[in-house]
Amino acid sequence: MTPGTTPIGLGIAGLGMAGAVIVHAAAKHPDFVLKAGADPHQGPRDAFARDHNARAYEDVRMLVRDAAVSVVYIATPHQFHAEHARLAAEHGKHIILEKPMALTLAECDAIIAAVERHNVHLVVGHTHAFDPAVRLMQEIIARGELGKLGLIHSLNYTNYLYRPRRPEELDTARGGGILFNQVPHQIDTVRLLAGGVVRSVRAHTTALDPARPTEASCAALLQFDNGAAASLVYSGYDHFDSDEWHFGISERGAPKEIAHGAARRALALAQDEAEARTAAFAYGATNSALPPHQPHFGVTIVTCAQGDMRATADGLAVYSRDGMRQIALPRGGSMPGRREVLDDMRVAIRAGKPPVQNGRWGKATVEVALAILQSARQGRDVALEHQVAVDGSSG
Ligand SMILES: NC(=O)c1ccc[n+]([C@@H]2O[C@H](COP(=O)([O-])OP(=O)(O)OC[C@H]3O[C@@H](n4cnc5c(N)ncnc54)[C@H](O)[C@@H]3O)[C@@H](O)[C@H]2O)c1
Repeated sequence: MTPGTTPIGLGIAGLGMAGAVIVHAAAKHPDFVLKAGADPHQGPRDAFARDHNARAYEDVRMLVRDAAVSVVYIATPHQFHAEHARLAAEHGKHIILEKPMALTLAECDAIIAAVERHNVHLVVGHTHAFDPAVRLMQEIIARGELGKLGLIHSLNYTNYLYRPRRPEELDTARGGGILFNQVPHQIDTVRLLAGGVVRSVRAHTTALDPARPTEASCAALLQFDNGAAASLVYSGYDHFDSDEWHFGISERGAPKEIAHGAARRALALAQDEAEARTAAFAYGATNSALPPHQPHFGVTIVTCAQGDMRATADGLAVYSRDGMRQIALPRGGSMPGRREVLDDMRVAIRAGKPPVQNGRWGKATVEVALAILQSARQGRDVALEHQVAVDGSSG
């Protein structure tokens, strides 16, 4: 914390899986103090209030009225993002909004309008574009160290579809499936690396399990205005696990025992899927230890004219005609990736510097996700109209 400044009061809307992670990150961040949380479930509320000596409300409408809260971190299910962001803005709270920003472009527009009307800051994240390794790759590209960017390949194989789910998470029309939940990490990351402005999308998606009938795999080609392209591959069927190819480390950076099919087997034993979800992921049920390695999202390989780059367990590997060199990244005291999200909000509040991942950026990422769905359904290229560059200029 800068001498003479008091920590920024943080409120968490939704004390589930994402809420729990940001609580652990914020508790170790010197510039923020946890003041309140909101969740309809009593278990996570009680655990949060006890652990952080904070208030815990049943309803987000009470959280946004809490005078000690300056920033609301919205980690409620997707379908509530637009409503909760509007409520927070109306009460003069700055907002950090989990991905996806919202489910439609109209909802994104409503959030942007509310944020502007009430003159508050909005950071759309966390996504893995905030990972220190991604930010370092962005700097290396921007400095021109490896010459012109040509291609980005992002691949992730997980157990996504077989983690316990609520019914709407298995229904694409209600925001279910990987295009709203998982692929935004990949879209945000490749947009940050390639300058932000996607010109067109061509994609194929698959829903391979009739019992869980939403998209759980996809292949997409994104073409950027600067001539670069990105291929995104995601598959969430709990068979192959691409963390095998990332040093056996989990998404958040913890050592991981790779167990193919384990999520399917556990799900088959669950009596009540919604209850199993709360029991497994709510605040209080999750591990609060700071992972020993850097976070990552599958395998991302960046190809430039004079070299390739990829994230490693503890930093970055750069491959060039001189061989391979490793760049270590400091892990710091707060959780990498989430720390950067909080840092961006702190800088917006204290220095007035707008975040790159603001409302227009978040809308552009939602536009790409929707275009992937559209391209897959229509079997054609889809042109993008609402893109924004890293420097904030319109695409
Ligand atoms: N950035 C990431 O890596 C990441 C990881 C997980 C989830 N997320 C995002 O976070 C959001 C939540 O996902 P999750 O996996 O944590 O879900 P979750 O079900 O684990 O948690 C959601 C929580 O919100 C609570 N909730 C539901 N309705 C509410 C309401 N009206 N008011 C307040 N709380 C309410 C639920 O009781 C639950 O505790 C999603 O939009 C998801 O995309 C992001």
